[in-house]
Amino acid sequence: MKKSVEIFERNWSPIGVFDSGVGGVSVLKALQSALPNESFIYAADSGNAPYGDKSKAFIEARTSAMASFLAGANAKAIVVACNTATVVAVKTLRAHYPIPVIAMEPAIKPATQISRSGVVGVLATARTLESPALANLCRLYGTSVKILLQPCPGLVEQVERGDLETEATHQLLRRYISPLLAGGADTLVLGCTHYVFLLAHIRRIVGPDITIVESSAAVARQLERRLAEIRKLSEGTRRSETKFFTTGPVNQSRAVISELWGESVHVQAIDISDIHIKI
Ligand code: DGL
Repeated sequence: MKKSVEIFERNWSPIGVFDSGVGGVSVLKALQSALPNESFIYAADSGNAPYGDKSKAFIEARTSAMASFLAGANAKAIVVACNTATVVAVKTLRAHYPIPVIAMEPAIKPATQISRSGVVGVLATARTLESPALANLCRLYGTSVKILLQPCPGLVEQVERGDLETEATHQLLRRYISPLLAGGADTLVLGCTHYVFLLAHIRRIVGPDITIVESSAAVARQLERRLAEIRKLSEGTRRSETKFFTTGPVNQSRAVISELWGESVHVQAIDISDIHIKI
């Protein structure tokens, strides 16, 4: 009896999700829709976004701090809802934490299978695009398909401000997408979780004939698989809840996360004193 109560309690632990900022909310949406019985804690490192143009040491340190905040909140799994943090630090996190650490992978594999023109364009941060993990994906899936890589400086900042539809965002998107279309790409990979919130805008720019892929649904499936394997899926007998935290200015984060999440949410400041475990 005692054991089953313990398992029940463990299964009710939340799933921790973090990103350099608000972009991972796009992943959180997919996770919550795939696993409606689960509770989530979302931590946005908006006080330190963007990660994409920072040093590896900086990204390692921030990733370690965010993961330790989530582990301290009793997370039963951690989802790294950031492609940039994944390529820099996921191995370190997996070595350190005994719980499942689920991470992002740009959807290059499905894109190369979908493309009929034989050209795929990848939009991501410079840090993601120059990583060995990305080079490996290109080596594996880019043998018969050409893969064009496009870094997008400035886009994460636009999403962090909630500027999804402004002229400045439009100019940036046109600048980054045009060379991909000119190069013959018929499939675009959104290799940064922030860019998913620009999907409607990107669709207007590229028209109906270009396929746009991203990986949040695949991450949700992987999370579900891993939790099922270790028998930690929630029983669904309690009300699930989603809590939001930020390292950035709380009012700004609340406004932007509410807009992206689609309803007004409460956002709490991450107490820096909670983050003391250094990997
Ligand atoms: N959402 C992050 C990603 O998927 C953005 C990285 C950044 O802050 O530059 O890469």
